[in-house]
Amino acid sequence: MAKIKHRALTSGGTSEKPAKRPRVAWMDESDDEAHSHKINGAEALKSLKFDAQSPRPTKKQKMAGAGPSGSKQAAMQEQRKQLPIALGRDAIIQEIKDNDVTVLVGETGSGKTTQIPQYILESGLARNGMIAVTQPRRVAATSLASRVALETQSQLGSLVGYSVRFSDVSSDKTKIKFVTDGMLVRELMGDPEMERYSVVIIDEAHERTLRTDVLLARLKGILKKRNAVPTEGKGKGKERAPKNPLKVVIMSATLDADKFSSFFGNAKILYVQGRQHPVAIYHTSTPQPDYVDAALRTVFQIHTDQPTGDILVFLPGQEDIESLDKSLQLYAKRLPQDAPGILTCPLYASLPASQQQQIFVPAPKGMRKVILATNIAETSVTIPGVRYVIDSGKCKEKRWVGRGVGGGFDTLLTRDITKSSAWQRTGRAGREAAGSCFRLYTEDAFSALPLSAEPEIRRCSLVASMLQLKCLGQDLEEMEFMESPDQEGIAQALMALYLLGALDDRKHLTDLGRRMAFFPLEPALSRAVLASVEFGCTSEVLAIVSVLSASSKLFVDTTDSRESAREAHTKFRHISGDHLTVLNVVRAYEEVLQAEGGADGRKASRAALKDWCVRNYVSHRCLTEALEIRAQLREYCERQAIDWRASCGDRVGEEQAVLRSLVRGLVQNTAFLQPDGRYKQVIGHSIVKIHPGSSLCDKKVPAIIYDELVYTTQIYARGVSAIPRNYIAEVPLLKHKGS
Ligand code: CDP
Ligand code: MG
Repeated sequence: MAKIKHRALTSGGTSEKPAKRPRVAWMDESDDEAHSHKINGAEALKSLKFDAQSPRPTKKQKMAGAGPSGSKQAAMQEQRKQLPIALGRDAIIQEIKDNDVTVLVGETGSGKTTQIPQYILESGLARNGMIAVTQPRRVAATSLASRVALETQSQLGSLVGYSVRFSDVSSDKTKIKFVTDGMLVRELMGDPEMERYSVVIIDEAHERTLRTDVLLARLKGILKKRNAVPTEGKGKGKERAPKNPLKVVIMSATLDADKFSSFFGNAKILYVQGRQHPVAIYHTSTPQPDYVDAALRTVFQIHTDQPTGDILVFLPGQEDIESLDKSLQLYAKRLPQDAPGILTCPLYASLPASQQQQIFVPAPKGMRKVILATNIAETSVTIPGVRYVIDSGKCKEKRWVGRGVGGGFDTLLTRDITKSSAWQRTGRAGREAAGSCFRLYTEDAFSALPLSAEPEIRRCSLVASMLQLKCLGQDLEEMEFMESPDQEGIAQALMALYLLGALDDRKHLTDLGRRMAFFPLEPALSRAVLASVEFGCTSEVLAIVSVLSASSKLFVDTTDSRESAREAHTKFRHISGDHLTVLNVVRAYEEVLQAEGGADGRKASRAALKDWCVRNYVSHRCLTEALEIRAQLREYCERQAIDWRASCGDRVGEEQAVLRSLVRGLVQNTAFLQPDGRYKQVIGHSIVKIHPGSSLCDKKVPAIIYDELVYTTQIYARGVSAIPRNYIAEVPLLKHKGS
């Protein structure tokens, strides 16, 4: 492995530092020399012998330190008192008491998310209702709920709970509920004034997700209603007070809080004085196009050259994390016997709950923990013990590509981070002591980064939010947002909802639209479920939709097992393409689930199921999650008086019915074959190719539907099925197409 040259940030680089971030100290030139010599010294790495096994921790060692035993609990309570926010507790509560809206800014790790809800609870401010704490990501919502439950010495789901899509761990006793911002928007449909909450905390507001912006816009209206002083009645004081007032707290880790304050009529801004130790910053001397490889080498450079302390690596997504994880484990095995070992901990959005808590457990003695995270570890989750940060400079961003009515698509793109993210990532190295941050990009590249990200409302599809707001009697295009969506985005969403039959030609919500919004699914998928009622195949469509809604992919297909995976997948393959292939997998899995248990009627053991999945190169995690999702979707169907057992019976009828249902939902995801073998969108202008991972990859069929488009060197359709052209013509608004 060649070494990567890192140059320390020279003092000139400090001009890039936002004026209000004084707590990060910078190395001067002389320190720089000394340090970079140490980092760059080729000898250290060369002398590393990669020839012996390193001790891996046993399960028992891994679990050491977990669980709130008596002394642990005491230590945790002591730690709570030491948090920077603890000093400001009374002042903060007083401000929240005195104001409808409070904006709270504090450095990551200062205790905002875990402490503020508890302070509010203890203060009695939430006597009449619950406290909601929103998070943009589900991993953050669930892991923070676990932490606060631990701190309050309660069972998760009683006093403290969470609610994220397809998983609700709360009860009548719940007072503090962590929710994804998307979940709280959904709740609005059943509780438009958020009456069950006394306090709504919008956390991580700086991320400006679309759902957060929708919530902020709605809260403004709700506050006016709920906090208005009744004009009726002659009474004074208490009698004139609003019946069920609402408090809103907006929390952010970045300093640009003025926007939130002015949106809420110059709401009070409180700053929590954080604690930040100096962090030395290093940039690479040359650009590193292969950031995963660069990260790998840097981890070992730190591991061999630097004193103890955990390493936090920021990567854009799960695939890169898994790939680096593999390489690290491979090389770690070849560390000399007496060298400290490496313990890797991945952290990304779809990480199963069972692995989440592992991140917070200290590494066993003599081991160095290497956390591989997406930007989730930037501000929402603070991991103790980190002294070194490796920043790939990349993140994944959801973006609507090729905007325009009918055209374009939402896709996840790997892109450069912003300066604001770079500073946040750097800060993670200096939480507990002085640290170092290794940026895998040059100083020039850093200077060229944009300052902060564009809010999602300006760059993502508005379809789902527009539908939800319609159900609340609100027109997205007329609402007051912190930043308004652009006309193109609005036109695209209106068109999509019209094509789905959710809006009529006067932009009014239809009964169908209301029923679509009821399901916790993308509008396109709920439309397919509703269409399945008409075609008598709800059981089949629910199975497929559940897999599509799971957070991980069904088919396991890594570079080193591609051939065997393909072979294993052949037996599931359906001639029409990927959707019915998915159905075949679910059916085969269910057969194993039922059959393995044998005569005593018990279900198959987890190990047997896992084994079956491994042998067939399908993801056990995806299938387990999909079956849970399906169980929930069945409940939603029951509430809508839909018979989820409805099934076609015969295989030919089934294929037609399922594909027809899917076309109703994926109407915008249809394309016709072109003479050159590529496909052109029926609605929209993109020319697409079938993804190499699809079972239809090298087939030419007259028309296709697909789940999504991915944009790499060209535009690929993923999750593809062949359909007769006339299925498209059957969609009520597309009669002229396809015939
Ligand atoms: O929200 P903010 O970034 O201000 O901080 P927080 O999430 O409330 O975290 C406060 C402290 O609790 C941090 O120092 C974390 O290290 C610690 N914490 C933890 O040890 N385990 C968790 N699961 C969550 C937080
Ligand atoms: Mg927080």
